[in-house]
Amino acid sequence: MKPNSIYANITAVGKYLPESIITNQHFETELDTSDDWIVSRTGIKQRHKVSNGQASVYMAVKAVEDLFRNSNVSSGDIDSIIVCTITPDMFFPSCACLVQKEIGANKAWGFDLSAACSGFVFGLETASNMIQSGNYKKIIVIGVDTMSSILDYTDRNTCILFGDGAGAVLLESNSTHGIMDSILKVDGNGGDYLYMPGGGSLNPTTEKTIANKLHYVKQDGANVFKRAVKGMTNVTLELMSRNQLSSNEIDLFIPHQANKRIIESVANKLNLNDEQVLINIDKYANTTAATIPIGIHDAINRKKLKHNDNLILSTFGAGFTWGSMYIKWNSDD
Ligand code: UT7
Repeated sequence: MKPNSIYANITAVGKYLPESIITNQHFETELDTSDDWIVSRTGIKQRHKVSNGQASVYMAVKAVEDLFRNSNVSSGDIDSIIVCTITPDMFFPSCACLVQKEIGANKAWGFDLSAACSGFVFGLETASNMIQSGNYKKIIVIGVDTMSSILDYTDRNTCILFGDGAGAVLLESNSTHGIMDSILKVDGNGGDYLYMPGGGSLNPTTEKTIANKLHYVKQDGANVFKRAVKGMTNVTLELMSRNQLSSNEIDLFIPHQANKRIIESVANKLNLNDEQVLINIDKYANTTAATIPIGIHDAINRKKLKHNDNLILSTFGAGFTWGSMYIKWNSDD
């Protein structure tokens, strides 16, 4: 628990998924794979994909526009914008600057945060501390990734797993509800298991890096799978213990959506039943930094979050990065 009584509370949520949908059947015609394999090994049935000319800033702005439709706050009130992504439109300027311009958040500053699938939770923790400092009243945290821009669509091991999407939340201070606690971790030893080697300062883009496909996601799926189950389970148990929360006191668990079998395994180890766990990977696949804000949005739409509910977010991603966050949900409904 945080020592003071200012909590960063989620007061509005927005999401955006691009119109175009790629079904598993599409991959059956292109690759040596099947709908049956993808559904049974991952839980994924379809994923969204941006059209030409659209990318992370486009989706982030759409998610923020959706957020504003669910809020009395307007863009001129925003103090800061944090965009969590590993697929920015370009290295610089940051997505945060481009979003700030597009939405007309005239007094906001902001920055991008890179922590892969854990980006959004890391961004929430950062924004939570900014709210608790008393210096910032309204912060937008966005999780967005255009995974289609870094996937090798000839590699069946990776391309079926990911989708494009964006989610955004507005954080404001509250004296009783909001982000109560979190435990976040990184372990750089995980770097060899999930990474994109090309295009950065180590391997700047050349004809050779492109020929060697260094600009695509590389993953040792089985290793990441095992570490994700262990990491998410242990960090959530630590957080539950620190906050004296038993399994039946968790009203909703929103995990990162990388693989339905990872989610089910973690939920099983945490002793949670199906009703306590949000799963939407079937519709969107793994949208990296966007899975959790999209999950919060879907939970609200499915009426799975009530006032005073204990909500746990949990994530695992490249780095390795992982962590869990405890939120006391506030709802005016
Ligand atoms: O967001 C955080 C980061 N990512 C993750 O958390 C992902 C973690 N990993 C996973 O979700 C799973 O490991 C995968 C879904 C990637 C793979 O599932 P798996 O049960 O671990 O399969 P595997 O890697 O052990 O591969 C089993 C077989 C292999 O064939 P062989 O070598 O046994 O003949 C693969 O080549 O399945 C094959 N395979 C496929 N077959 C049909 C891999 N991808 C496909 C595919 N279609 N798309």
